[in-house]
Amino acid sequence: MSAASARLDPQNEITTIDRRLFGGFVEHLGRHIYDGIFEPGHPSADAEGFRTDVIELVKELGVTTIRYPGGNFVSGYRWEDGIGPVSERPRRLDLAWHTTDTNEVGLHEFQAWLDRVGSQLMLAVNLGTRGTQEALDLLEYSNVSAQTAWTDRRVANGRENPFAVSMWCLGNEMDGPWQIGHLNADDYGKLASRTAKAMRMIDPSIELVACGSSGRDMPTFGTWERQILEHTFDDVDFISCHSYYQEHRGDAQEFLASGVDMSKFIESVAAIADSVAATKKSEKRIMISFDEWNVWYLRNDDNDAESGHEYKGGEWPVAPRLLEDRYHALDAVVFGDLLITLLQHSDRVRSASLAQLVNVIAPIMTEPGGPAWRQTTFHPFSITSRLAQGRAVRVPVDAGTFTSERFGEVSAVNAVATIDGEGASLFLTNRSTTDATDLTVDLAAIRPAFGHDVHIVESHLLHEDDMYAANSLEDTERVGVRAATAAISDSTLSISLPAVSWVAIRLA
Ligand code: AHR
Repeated sequence: MSAASARLDPQNEITTIDRRLFGGFVEHLGRHIYDGIFEPGHPSADAEGFRTDVIELVKELGVTTIRYPGGNFVSGYRWEDGIGPVSERPRRLDLAWHTTDTNEVGLHEFQAWLDRVGSQLMLAVNLGTRGTQEALDLLEYSNVSAQTAWTDRRVANGRENPFAVSMWCLGNEMDGPWQIGHLNADDYGKLASRTAKAMRMIDPSIELVACGSSGRDMPTFGTWERQILEHTFDDVDFISCHSYYQEHRGDAQEFLASGVDMSKFIESVAAIADSVAATKKSEKRIMISFDEWNVWYLRNDDNDAESGHEYKGGEWPVAPRLLEDRYHALDAVVFGDLLITLLQHSDRVRSASLAQLVNVIAPIMTEPGGPAWRQTTFHPFSITSRLAQGRAVRVPVDAGTFTSERFGEVSAVNAVATIDGEGASLFLTNRSTTDATDLTVDLAAIRPAFGHDVHIVESHLLHEDDMYAANSLEDTERVGVRAATAAISDSTLSISLPAVSWVAIRLA
């Protein structure tokens, strides 16, 4: 058993949190839409074919925005295929995932689903096989109220009022050689800049995201950011970061340091954006949209039985089982730590999207005709999204360390807090695989604001003695959260953190 100490002090404020930090991502991929959120024959389906059991879980998850429709998929997508009478919509090959899209769900249906789950739409435009004109058409169709040929079509398709989409991604992962229409940084920078300028001529109020690197390990990382921002600096508000983590070769301790990698990624991109600002003698700060993050093991190109789909030249299945990762308790602790990392950088990361939401590398799983259930990662997300309100506050921790191959000495305990009008929330991970820790948190600095009777309103612990325990169709509730062991005496909060654990505490 180790001991650690920390101090919760409102003076250590990072920023007021942008609630878009708790966004999600829905791609036309595998069983995400079809046989995921949309399954007309399911006993819980509503009149539009959406599963209401999934809607309830998405609401409980608490995703504030949803990026749509991709992902790699968007780089071959014709958005017009998804509007108008469903019976007249074309079936199309999706080259990104080697499947067939029936287009039964498009912009109108997806917005109707979002209205039910209570999240805001964030749209990505296709800059892979298409370009500026198609992006303008989609923006006009979505956001304009003046009468035009496009808005007449929107009204004819049942939507009088504009969709009023405020955040737009200028393509997806255009640095990746796998991307349909992959570009070099110069070509992408020029295309993104002229598309952004033209889009703002239609709607100056929109916020635009330029594609950053699809990972910090990309060979072009860094130069890509600098070059594309040299072209787009005045035209965009955000640059994207994407990052997926996994345990390699059973090295759980190294996997638990993933948050350090995410931190370095964010800090590097912010530094590059600020260096471009400096050369332009500009005070503008480009913000980060961390619009794909998660733990991810199964890759489509693994071409293995587990991914449930093999590439075959002539086979283009509809909604096959793709990337259906099953998450264990260790994944959920790393995942919770990534959320802590995002909050620690919430002054720069003003938007983030958990990739993805249902069935595909997802916190929610479904079985056709059967149940929907929460994966282990569901819990840290829903609890953090609900409790992390108001201002984010840095919580320095004095704790033991472990040695990471990539990052050297890493603190075993990671923490962040939020403070709002009603109370404070503390989020913690014990990233050590070997040592449980007794943590004490000095609350003296928050007592004046809270009165003298600071008490614990709720506490949550995610920990399993078997860190590879997971939920499944056979046992949908195997892993959940339970109350943490925590108490307050005088001005000190004491919390027990088992090895490999995630904890949230609400104080009022
Ligand atoms: O989220 C799965 C895929 O990961 C997305 O389609 C792509 O953008 C990324 O490479």
